[in-house]
Amino acid sequence: MKTNSEIFFETLVEGLDIGVIALDADLHILHWNDFITRQTGKCVDQVRGQPITDIFPETNNPQFHGMIELARSKGRHVYHHWLELSLLIPLRFESPDGDLLSLQSSLLFPYDHYGRERRYGLVMYDTGAIAKSSRQLEAALVALSKKQAEQDQLICKLETANTQLLQSEKLAAIGQLAAGVAHEINNPIGYVLSNLKTLDGYVLDMLRIIDAVDEVSSLDELRQIKHALEYDYVREDVKALISESGDGIDRVKQIISALKDFSYIDEEEFRPADLHRGIETTLNVVNNEIKYKAEVTREFGILPELECIPSQINQVVMNLLVNAAHSIEQFGRITLRTSHEGDWVWFEVEDTGKGIDKKLLNRIYEPFFTTKPVGKGTGLGLALSYNIVQKHNGRIEVRSEVGQGTCFRVWLPVCQPVALTGKDAE
Ligand SMILES: Nc1ncnc2c1ncn2[C@@H]1O[C@H](COP(=O)(O)OP(=O)(O)OP(=O)(O)O)[C@@H](O)[C@H]1O
Ligand SMILES: [Mg+2]
Repeated sequence: MKTNSEIFFETLVEGLDIGVIALDADLHILHWNDFITRQTGKCVDQVRGQPITDIFPETNNPQFHGMIELARSKGRHVYHHWLELSLLIPLRFESPDGDLLSLQSSLLFPYDHYGRERRYGLVMYDTGAIAKSSRQLEAALVALSKKQAEQDQLICKLETANTQLLQSEKLAAIGQLAAGVAHEINNPIGYVLSNLKTLDGYVLDMLRIIDAVDEVSSLDELRQIKHALEYDYVREDVKALISESGDGIDRVKQIISALKDFSYIDEEEFRPADLHRGIETTLNVVNNEIKYKAEVTREFGILPELECIPSQINQVVMNLLVNAAHSIEQFGRITLRTSHEGDWVWFEVEDTGKGIDKKLLNRIYEPFFTTKPVGKGTGLGLALSYNIVQKHNGRIEVRSEVGQGTCFRVWLPVCQPVALTGKDAE
């Protein structure tokens, strides 16, 4: 007579849509459920007592033997998954959507029959649905990594484009400089030339006076010639003309030396440099953009030498100065300040221009962001400056009040981290 719990378990096991086989200690078949009978067409009563490997030769494989070994020696539950082409026992599970499933999971576990006899249970069930979703997941991952690779490529392209743009901004800056410098040099050269012409006339007059020494009969006559040629005026004017021409030539010299500093525009080397010299150089170069727009005031502190790429810092100063000049509608003031705090140096360019609307403040460093009319600004000045300052491990701060003016402050570390300067590579 079967007990209630035996009936319960028998009904349960027979009703399951999974394969269940009971084996004795030598892996001989004791029983299997109705699912196995339906799937294999074999009747358990005809095979009872025979080794499972005889009835299902597919089970005669190293993986299954491995499972048996583990279950026997360690007394453990052993799981294994079987792929479509090498199922442990060819059972055909069908998924609700009609697909034939391709993954069979199996569990081999030891148990004691009424505490007397070691037996083994073998359960086979379908994990095709999981396999399918994991395959979908895998496909999604592959697609994702493909997308990622595409994105990486895109970023790479963008970086190249960015570098090219920055390069073109440099070129534009050089173009702008060249035009400004030509104008700056033209002016002193113009008046030096005109002074030379006047001096030429004066020299001729002087020669006439000197020649007259041999020709005149009296000193009075000579005095008359001297008077007629306005000798006293010429004497003073010659002094003024020579001093003015000297100034003009000095100015040209200054501009040329500033240009030399700017000509290392592509240099990449960090080296100690004098920030004030850089600022003066830049002021000389952009003087033409500024002088009709603003009076420049300097409030310089005492600075240590700054480890930087000087031409690049000059370019930042130049962009800030030009922006400051452009922001001033009539005539205003540009104040340049510098200071030194601990390991940092900062410089400020403050203007009394029209200021920046609060809503736009977080956009000004975007490449191509400009409020200038089409064809006037590229909108790359601040983007380039931001990049340069970042490369120097520094930062830019901005305060602005519409109608009052704007102040950009650039913080730079006095010394660059060792790895960046290449010192540790030596
Ligand atoms: N000192 C300033 N005062 C007011 N607005 C400013 C100032 N500096 C920058 N801006 C604003 O930020 C925008 C972006 O500046 P950025 O230097 O990047 O480009 P740009 O000056 O417009 O063009 P480019 O520098 O190529 O000639 C400017 O168009 C302007 O609106
Ligand atoms: Mg600009």
